[in-house]
Amino acid sequence: MRCRICQYKSEFVISFGKMPLANHFLKKEDFDEEYFFELATMFCDRCKTFQLIEQPKPDKMFHDNYAFFSGTSKKMEAHFEHLAKYYQEKFITKPSESFVVELGSNDGIMLKHFSKKGIDHIGIEPSLNVAEVARQQGVNTISKFFDENLAKELYLRKGQADIISASNVMCHIPDLKSVAAGIKLLLKPNGVFVFEDPYLGDMIEKVSFDQIYDEHVYLFSANAVSNIFLPYGLELFNVERQTTHGGSMRYYLGHRAAHAREESVDSLFLYEKDKNLDIVETFYNFSKNCVKKKKNLIHMLSELKEKNKRVVGYAATSKSTTVLNYCDIGPDLVEYISDTTPIKQGKFSPGMHIPVVPYERFKRDDPDYAILFAWNHETEIFEKEEDFLKRGGHWIKFVPNVEVLEQKSCASLPSD
Ligand code: TYD
Repeated sequence: MRCRICQYKSEFVISFGKMPLANHFLKKEDFDEEYFFELATMFCDRCKTFQLIEQPKPDKMFHDNYAFFSGTSKKMEAHFEHLAKYYQEKFITKPSESFVVELGSNDGIMLKHFSKKGIDHIGIEPSLNVAEVARQQGVNTISKFFDENLAKELYLRKGQADIISASNVMCHIPDLKSVAAGIKLLLKPNGVFVFEDPYLGDMIEKVSFDQIYDEHVYLFSANAVSNIFLPYGLELFNVERQTTHGGSMRYYLGHRAAHAREESVDSLFLYEKDKNLDIVETFYNFSKNCVKKKKNLIHMLSELKEKNKRVVGYAATSKSTTVLNYCDIGPDLVEYISDTTPIKQGKFSPGMHIPVVPYERFKRDDPDYAILFAWNHETEIFEKEEDFLKRGGHWIKFVPNVEVLEQKSCASLPSD
């Protein structure tokens, strides 16, 4: 197996078996045509990048019916409003002369805060349906994949950018070389390239293997990010932990020597060394922990079934596709999954074909247990679902551990 970044050979593979596309919620008539691929990962001992071995073609995943809309969570809305404000305060000195580019701008959740202020911007969003939602909110959007060619086109048309931002996008892009070369070209000499993605350190610590699915080609560490972008003259100068997506990292890069390197970078490098994120043994242990978690979850659900308890799923996340398929959990163990996204409702979950129902059904219903598939939105969900506990319901969590939450522990959870 060769690393996508540096071509180094690796023998150790973690396999999660046959997997459908995480966001491919489908109708009954499409079951026979469903696409599957082999979900397996490797760790590159040279550039330290944790990555998928095989990834379906991007146009299979990001198309005119893409099912992920960033604006489905109030906390995410607030997160991106805050990010836009932060960018404007920290990196925009002359709004009328500034230009901001966002890669994977989704429904315009972040860029709309630039659009409202009349700051020149372009969002790059290949999925036509979500791009259309962004345009309706006044966000200039190009429906293409970002690469060196598109960067050249933008450079000639608009000049260089003060900020290039990408949230939960870089980890989706297999050919980072072309993207890195594009960013190098499109970024002003003093510009900043900022991106955030789920953090490898959190995934290992929480055994949140559900972060591994077709769209996440990479789960980055700071060490890997630095190794990937340095050959293109882009240097990591700051990092910030984020609570989003179950533990993310925000990386700040600029042209070589353009920004003073902050202490945060060195302390994260030390943390990663301390946690052994740079050695393959860590990934052997991780794979053993995944198997343990799978056994525990199946055991718990089978016991509940024997006791005739009703178990449903809360939120048909992309992550839930990995959990359900890897653990072989189907409608016999989980009756339905409730979700607020209209495009998923009335369809079936990828691979295991559990019905996805509107959230209102969950509100009317009295299941005994609900598995929290959107565990990364735990605080927001527990706040709004106090009623579920009062009706005698219980939450099942599987991150960091497989457990049934007692009422008391739900009420006392820290906010993120
Ligand atoms: P997220 O964890 O962002 O998903 P992913 O694993 O796909 O990145 O959660 C988004 C999904 O969860 C989306 O389908 C909407 C659903 N959801 C609910 O149904 N209710 C909620 O309260 C929240 C926060 C999300």
